[in-house]
Amino acid sequence: MSRSAHPAGPRHADVLPEGHYYAPPADLNALDHKVWAQTVGRNDDGVVTVGGVDVKTLAEEHGTPAYVLDEADFRARARAWRTAFGADADVFYAGKAFLSRAVVRWLNEEGLNLDVCSGGELATALSAGMPAERIAFHGNNKSTDEIRRAIEAGVGRIVLDSFQEIVRVAHIAQSLGKRQKVQIRITVGVEAHTHEFIATAHEDQKFGIPLAGGQAAEAVRRALQLDGLELIGIHSHIGSQIFDMSGFEVAAHRVVGLLRDIRDEHGVELPEIDLGGGLGIAYTSDDDPREPHEIAKALTEIVTRECEAARLRTPRISVEPGRAIVGPTAFTLYEVGTVKPLDGLRTYVSVDGGMSDNIRTALYDAEYSVALVSRTSAAEPMLARVVGKHCESGDIVVKDAFLPADLAPGDLIAVPATGAYCRSMASNYNHVLRPPVVAVKDGEARVIVRRETEEDLLRLDVG
Ligand code: LLP
Repeated sequence: MSRSAHPAGPRHADVLPEGHYYAPPADLNALDHKVWAQTVGRNDDGVVTVGGVDVKTLAEEHGTPAYVLDEADFRARARAWRTAFGADADVFYAGKAFLSRAVVRWLNEEGLNLDVCSGGELATALSAGMPAERIAFHGNNKSTDEIRRAIEAGVGRIVLDSFQEIVRVAHIAQSLGKRQKVQIRITVGVEAHTHEFIATAHEDQKFGIPLAGGQAAEAVRRALQLDGLELIGIHSHIGSQIFDMSGFEVAAHRVVGLLRDIRDEHGVELPEIDLGGGLGIAYTSDDDPREPHEIAKALTEIVTRECEAARLRTPRISVEPGRAIVGPTAFTLYEVGTVKPLDGLRTYVSVDGGMSDNIRTALYDAEYSVALVSRTSAAEPMLARVVGKHCESGDIVVKDAFLPADLAPGDLIAVPATGAYCRSMASNYNHVLRPPVVAVKDGEARVIVRRETEEDLLRLDVG
């Protein structure tokens, strides 16, 4: 949705927070490729198509709500990251954004590595054939069982997150007669410019070991002494949905500072650094994310410069984008159930999903866009709030958006940029069934994660 600095007139101004005036977009039927997957367009009947399949057919064959994922776009974005960083760096796709076996296969084919953070993600990765040495295992409280399975499988690295874990991983590796490659995750004290719940490098939080007070240096000291561990590098992840590269600049400066201190104290130059993920995407037309090649160039230059200043060999860099690869590749397709105009307030548009398939609006106050996709309309724009079917007033999918005033039950609407952290954070609240993920490509639609059924629900309920 486009936000403008000028008042949109009394019809809209009274329902928006003070100082926020929204103007309807010039063309409600237009689809901005900043927020929509690359193959999205409208056919001659005005119906939106993606990957050569129209949304009416998708709704008929697969039902709604459904996440619709553009496979060609996913592969193109994965490849763009891979190419941008080149052979001297590694791109680990962050599986937490969205993981399925099909996605693992695409990543494998496109030459990306994979970051997992639970036994479930590890199992998915291994079952779809991702070579274990290309998997990084994360998490602030991995269970001993998860650690054992990761080491037995032969994962390429485990990212250590606490003093206890340093000992725990060393012990388990030794008991298996192995030496496990590890990185230590540190917090560099950067406040990323993002929502408080998703900013992770300031020190007052659960992840990593603080650089401040010499704790990270002490963690390195301990890890270097343990036979079960091969310390290969330092890891830093500063947050999510970040547009401003200055946070990465400070993080890289501080990580390289630690590498220099390690060299000075131990005579060891660690060969790798991981700068995490967190690069932002466009949820609305107002967002301006950077391209992978710009990000790669900026990060490589920062690290190279810092290493030259510290007289260190430039370590191999890795990054962990999740949202930036999968986020823009999918939209959620909903059917409109009710349209409820509240005089002088706004129009509530209820869809057949809600906070169970997209918790981000309720959790982070996230902004999304929305469009009528089953037809075009020449009707006036109406200020709408798209809400779900849950028994909770905070069940909002899109807070403020313009939709055509002739919107009616039975219309299909879609919310773009829901590829990341929507299906992966979906719940069964109100025993609502989680939607399928349908991948489209070259005129074909393929279910890669099927819709949950009532049988699935009842199978877990053994009481
Ligand atoms: N690496 C690490 C260590 C992470 O913790 C994360 C995200 C990533 C990489 C990937 O970040 P991305 O590139 O996808 O931003 N659920 C939230 C975001 C929490 C992300 C947690 N970690 C959301 O919906 O925005």
